[in-house]
Amino acid sequence: MFGIIGYIGNKNSAPVIIEGLKKLEYRGYDSAGFAVINQSKIAILKYKGKISELNERLEKKTLLGSVGIGHTRWATHGKPSQANAHPHANCSGKIVVVHNGIIENFIELKRDLLKRGCKFKSETDTEVIVHLIGKYYSKKSGIVAAVRKAIKKIKGSYALGVLCTYEPEKIVAVRQDSPLIIGLGKKENFIVSDVSGILEYTKRVIYLEDGQIAVVTKDDVELSDISGNKVLKKIDKITQKAEHVTKGKFPHFMLKEIYEQPQILSKIISVYTKSKSTIFFTDSRLSKEFLLKVQSVIIVACGTSYHVAMVAKYALESFLRIPVLVDLGSEFRYRDPVINENTLVIAISQSGETADTLAAIREVKKKSVKILSICNVLGSSLVRESDYVIPILAGPEISVASTKAFTAQMIVLYLLGIYWGGLKRVLSKNYVKKAIEKLRELPEKQKKIFNMDKNIKAIAKRHLHFGAFLYLGRHVNYPIALEGALKLKEISYIPTEGYASGEMKHGPIALIDEYRAVVCIANDSFIFDKMISNVQEILARKAKLIIIATKGREQLNDYTKEVIFIPEVDELFSPMLTVIPLQLLAYHIAVLKGYDVDKPRNLAKSVTVE
Ligand code: AGP
Repeated sequence: MFGIIGYIGNKNSAPVIIEGLKKLEYRGYDSAGFAVINQSKIAILKYKGKISELNERLEKKTLLGSVGIGHTRWATHGKPSQANAHPHANCSGKIVVVHNGIIENFIELKRDLLKRGCKFKSETDTEVIVHLIGKYYSKKSGIVAAVRKAIKKIKGSYALGVLCTYEPEKIVAVRQDSPLIIGLGKKENFIVSDVSGILEYTKRVIYLEDGQIAVVTKDDVELSDISGNKVLKKIDKITQKAEHVTKGKFPHFMLKEIYEQPQILSKIISVYTKSKSTIFFTDSRLSKEFLLKVQSVIIVACGTSYHVAMVAKYALESFLRIPVLVDLGSEFRYRDPVINENTLVIAISQSGETADTLAAIREVKKKSVKILSICNVLGSSLVRESDYVIPILAGPEISVASTKAFTAQMIVLYLLGIYWGGLKRVLSKNYVKKAIEKLRELPEKQKKIFNMDKNIKAIAKRHLHFGAFLYLGRHVNYPIALEGALKLKEISYIPTEGYASGEMKHGPIALIDEYRAVVCIANDSFIFDKMISNVQEILARKAKLIIIATKGREQLNDYTKEVIFIPEVDELFSPMLTVIPLQLLAYHIAVLKGYDVDKPRNLAKSVTVE
């Protein structure tokens, strides 16, 4: 994944680009760089490491130029290094390119270019693009024609920013499957991967569509398609505010976002419920008639959002009594699913830019099946490509490890299910009223768990030396076991698996020994006794046991001292609570191990490549 930004106007471009890259750093942060044109010369500054390091070097080196392009990288082809950082230049150094995406046929292109004497300086797929453009460039036909010829040879996904010293008064931008937006200012214009990079400068944007090429000068933007036909500009107004998000009193964004969950759940419930028993959604296109026609649901998502989908399956099937299938975006798109006009596909994505989820819904659109997105970023590709949208109202989620979006997405899906189940008369008016009441109680119950934070930190301290963890849950808490495991592994790098407890005897129990820590989600439920059997099996094999239990079950301390109690809650609504201790446990272990909790290695906040 990568973040791209470009500027052309009357300001010095370097500071604008650096500030923009800081806002795009969540898209990848293993290296960063930018190029500016000054008196028909291109200067490039790029380094391995975070944008802050690039900025430190910029302070020592003034780079003047009112046209520039910048890039922050998450390594796909080629390790994180200065040589592999973008921008990349062609052999003459007169053309530079920044790229978001993956060039699938780069090996054959590189072979051909090497044969023609091109000298490559990096291991990246991107570098073939700039050499191809260089190969096709001529002063007669110009840079745009060269870009057009080059992209005809490329297979894969790309959002490109191109500068050329022979035509220094323009940026050429191209989009194919990777998001790219043109920001329209006063005597200045921008290109950017997502609007967060330019919100402080303009709210007027053009969302480039696949196959479109934009020629951006400081006074104008010209759009054309791959064959050179002029394309009319569709100017949108961004409603998103430039939220200067800070950590506030918290040491990390992740901890802040964990603690924000109660207030976000309260906001979601108040926005989407008119009264104690009436739910409504702001997207008027999502009609009652349509919902009553739906006979099956497929939920598509990735990562943490996929775990939300797994919980939602239990809830929606209980509320709607229709089949709810759940699939990973990266799998669904190759499955040739059985779907028809009575299927609703729900896409869950915090960023709305996850390439696998987007690819999946684009397959669905080919079968003209309706798509509802549950998303946190209104200007995102997913929102723009869906038929219906229910925003999760969680505010910007900065930490790579998703926490507040997890519970926000979940409660939105519960509200949808309760509303829809009432519509279908599967749920009585009384059940709807009681269910909404149970949702309203959750934020206060979450806050009670925060009172356990010191205890959870102490448990983290006693367990951070374990080389491997196993998380176990059943029913609606099986996905929570997966989510707790994902949280721990992605920020502490400890090998961690989540499993359905019932599966233990089918193999995973072979893993259990005194060198492994096992987290059991054993809150009060109709399967509590089954979970206690798992606890016994684990203790019999000497593993270190941590239990998530319901307050009042103090007898569980007979099994282990490491018990984290959560308030009483209805089983179906328990995931919004059981996940909290697991988020905190992962956070404390990673902090105690000294890792960068908000920017873990090898990851990015928005996975915009497949
Ligand atoms: C969550 O902690 C991870 N960072 C990751 O799994 C994330 O949930 C996944 O990439 C999906 O992102 P999305 O919700 O923006 O689509």
